[in-house]
Amino acid sequence: PPLYIITPTYRRPEQIAELTRLSHTLMLVPPNLTWLVIEDAYQTNDLVEEVLKKSSLKYHYMIAPMPAQYKNKTKGPKPRGVSNRNKGIEWIRENAKTGVLYFADDDNTYDLELFNDIRYTKRVSMFPVGLITKAGVSSPIVKNGVFTGFYDGWIGGRKFAVDMAGFAVSVEFLLKRPKAKMPFKPGFEEDGFLKSLSPFEPRNVELLASNCTKILVWHTQTKKNGPSLPLDMAKHNNTNLVMLKK
Ligand code: UGA
Ligand code: MN
Repeated sequence: PPLYIITPTYRRPEQIAELTRLSHTLMLVPPNLTWLVIEDAYQTNDLVEEVLKKSSLKYHYMIAPMPAQYKNKTKGPKPRGVSNRNKGIEWIRENAKTGVLYFADDDNTYDLELFNDIRYTKRVSMFPVGLITKAGVSSPIVKNGVFTGFYDGWIGGRKFAVDMAGFAVSVEFLLKRPKAKMPFKPGFEEDGFLKSLSPFEPRNVELLASNCTKILVWHTQTKKNGPSLPLDMAKHNNTNLVMLKK
């Protein structure tokens, strides 16, 4: 079955490095993968397009800016990557019939085994995510092979206390739910999306990664080095450096 990987991205100094690394991971995945890269921006960026082209992966590069009402918020968390992922979902509704979709943020670390595992998702599959919150891992709790709850550093009253990287969805299953989408609700994006896949209950989840005993994806985060452009470098007119300007 085809795999659709939805990757939200946005412009910052680390962007090209993150996308280069993720492209190299996806290049090692067996065929029949489509990479949907959606940038939170009002225009596309040639440097991003270059990374995608160089990979020789099958890709679609789209834009989906975060609505201004959220982008201009001065306090509290923002709904990062939500307009991007909804755009990816829309693309799938218009272009796909079968297969599996997975939301792969540009900065996480993925074991190739994950892509084998998720390919056979019938409804919604779940698996552990490592290096997340102080709890260290976010995962379905499995007892005697049966789902019994969620382990996560922050349960927050969520029905589905999972990270974005911790589940995959069957395309056919999604297409049967025309209203399913992700809410602009910081902290509740996963929960809101999974609830919108109703009818679907946590106990119906397909447990992957050897019954959730293995970690095949890590919520790695790239350390920011602060302002990364020595501004006088910009006058050398080198595209890669100019790109670093905010
Ligand atoms: C955590 C969760 O692990 C993510 O799955 C969730 O999407 C995110 O929080 C969230 O706030 O919703 P975290 O590492 O804190 O992840 O977030 P980022 O990696 O900074 O952003 C998530 C994705 O959205 C990335 O692919 C990033 O490129 C993209 N993003 C981020 C945007 O498109 N626009 C932004 O302004 C920020
Ligand atoms: Mn991240």
